[in-house]
Amino acid sequence: MNIIVTGGAGFIGSNFIFHMLKTYPDYRIICLDKLTYAGNLSTLKTVMDNPNFRFVKLDICDREGVYKLFEEEHPDIVVNFAAESHVDRSIENPSVFLETNIMGTSVLMDACRKYGIRRYHQVSTDEVYGDLPLDRPDLFFTEETPIHTSSPYSSSKAGADLLVLAYHRTYGLPVTISRCSNNYGPYHFPEKLIPLMVINALHDKPLPVYGEGLNVRDWLYVEDHCRAIDLIIHKGTVGEVYNVGGHNEMKNIDIVKLICKELGKPETLITHVTDRKGHDMRYAIDPTKIHNELGWLPETKFADGIKKTIRWYLDNEDWWQPIISGEYQNYYEQMYGNR
Ligand code: NAD
Ligand code: TYD
Repeated sequence: MNIIVTGGAGFIGSNFIFHMLKTYPDYRIICLDKLTYAGNLSTLKTVMDNPNFRFVKLDICDREGVYKLFEEEHPDIVVNFAAESHVDRSIENPSVFLETNIMGTSVLMDACRKYGIRRYHQVSTDEVYGDLPLDRPDLFFTEETPIHTSSPYSSSKAGADLLVLAYHRTYGLPVTISRCSNNYGPYHFPEKLIPLMVINALHDKPLPVYGEGLNVRDWLYVEDHCRAIDLIIHKGTVGEVYNVGGHNEMKNIDIVKLICKELGKPETLITHVTDRKGHDMRYAIDPTKIHNELGWLPETKFADGIKKTIRWYLDNEDWWQPIISGEYQNYYEQMYGNR
């Protein structure tokens, strides 16, 4: 089996590559990644010499380059992780989100149509459903929940999802979509909540909580997400959407306090800053369908996963130190300087 994994130098894509190479020693994995600010080749250093692995630096919007790669590799499956993924950046500059997340998806699917494919899998997000009110803990996102986006990021992901379903209906492309909740774990880029708070706390820097910090996210350990995608591409039904989440809802402020506790840092580091524009209140996935149809269940409890994740950041400073010393400094100053 030949699998093209796009965005494999990023957080979830890299974890998925590790999972697949370990689980299927006879599969060939081709990672296609543009290496934007969020892609990091050092993340893939342990697999670079694996004979079943190939890295190709390529933009998913580069039609000619993508077609050439398909001609060379004849992929059976494409799993599309490549995306601009940070909500705050999408608020500052939506256009690159539309380009990569929507146009790039269409280029990949055109290549799948042209060269033939067994499966095209789109890695999507629960954010396409918008948000739920805090005072209705009985409500969850199901696959039937209407698309109702809030940010340029989630709108671009929803646009891509609709296009994927249209390619299935119009051209019969064998597609599946997974919509997962917030992931956490190793190799998470430090602009996102958990790694940002861990690294700031380690440096005794302020921990910038947006607004009151009462927003709720449904956290899933990244390996559980990777297992879900593995199941969907092998056993999922073509044309279907699968929600992925582990019923682990937490308020942002509680996560930040937990990180302080784990690292032995004072909660006085917590600084409430101006809220994110259009900030979604609550995400909560109902994973009944993937559980019933594919037998998927999360394996890592949050209490263990967060400890493992913090430990990983403590042990892997050589991974994140170069990131936060570079362009990230300008990003941080721009995003948090006057907040
Ligand atoms: P990430 O930002 O860590 O990684 C994205 C990767 O895509 C990077 O390696 C980057 O270089 C690459 N990339 C960006 N633009 C590209 C382009 N035009 N061509 C080729 N490569 C390009 O993101 P992530 O957190 O790993 O998310 C991966 C996917 O999962 C995204 O599609 C995201 O929407 C989705 N998702 C993320 C989460 C989460 O909690 N992080 C939850 C649900 C779904
Ligand atoms: P994030 O990791 O950006 O994921 P998403 O917006 O896709 O859910 O943010 C998670 C939550 O944490 C979200 O409610 C915004 C909040 N947040 C902060 O309070 N401070 C921060 O510095 C960041 C990056 C996020």
